Amino acid sequence: MNLILIGPPGSGKGTQSDYLVETFGAVHLSTGDMLRKHVKDGTAIGKKAKSFMDSGALVPDDLIIEMMTERLNEIKAEKKSWLLDGYPRSLKQANALKALAASGNAVDAVIYLDVSDNEVVRRLSGRRTCPVCKRTYHIEFMKPAVEGKCDADGAALIIRDDDKESTIRNRLKTYHSQTAEVVSFYRKEGVLKAIPGESAPSDVTQKVASALGKSVKPKKK
Ligand code: AP5
Repeated sequence: MNLILIGPPGSGKGTQSDYLVETFGAVHLSTGDMLRKHVKDGTAIGKKAKSFMDSGALVPDDLIIEMMTERLNEIKAEKKSWLLDGYPRSLKQANALKALAASGNAVDAVIYLDVSDNEVVRRLSGRRTCPVCKRTYHIEFMKPAVEGKCDADGAALIIRDDDKESTIRNRLKTYHSQTAEVVSFYRKEGVLKAIPGESAPSDVTQKVASALGKSVKPKKK
């Protein structure tokens, strides 16, 4: 199954992707993680993307579409399916993805995690991220076993550069002005599964599973 996770910043896309990757064996493509790697490696894409990411704006469509189309075609050539986390985020990106449907990249389902702005701010201001495996934690809702260390690899957890309150507010504005219409796009396409995303992570996972016709018992987060 080719799947998309969509929702405001901090709605739990990264958190829910673990379950979906495990269940469907799809290749997880997080555009945010891909871009942060480009920034860290100092590539041409990273240099162009950094100022947009730092301000909470979208990185220009042409750059993102080229990066994603290349990667999606590689995955298709390997006869694997994908899970998109953070793409598409504008109507131009959604139409670029639709244009790939005929060549084997059709979207089977879009999971929309519906979370309010206040909850987004609460979650992102307490998020901690593992710089090695990208797993996310929360200082209140999803604590690591040892404070400040990743459960999977022991790396010191970090605060993302764009998780400052002023940038979070800008990311929310960008979401409402440019990405919310992608939700309507997929509703019209008949593939949208809207999930209330404000309960505990394991409960949201149950709802995602049942929307996809699965009864797999999720791991407790
Ligand atoms: P990106 O990295 O994709 O950021 P985002 O969409 O803002 O999403 P996040 O990663 O912040 O949140 P999430 O939904 O994954 O939530 P998480 O699971 O971590 O993008 C960053 C930037 O890159 C963008 O601003 C833009 O500049 C650029 N970019 C990326 N894609 C682009 C594109 N396609 N086009 C143009 N530009 C693009 O959870 C958040 C926190 O909440 C965690 O602490 C977690 O532990 C906690 N949590 C999760 N679920 C729950 C729950 N149910 N209850 C309580 N806490 C929970």
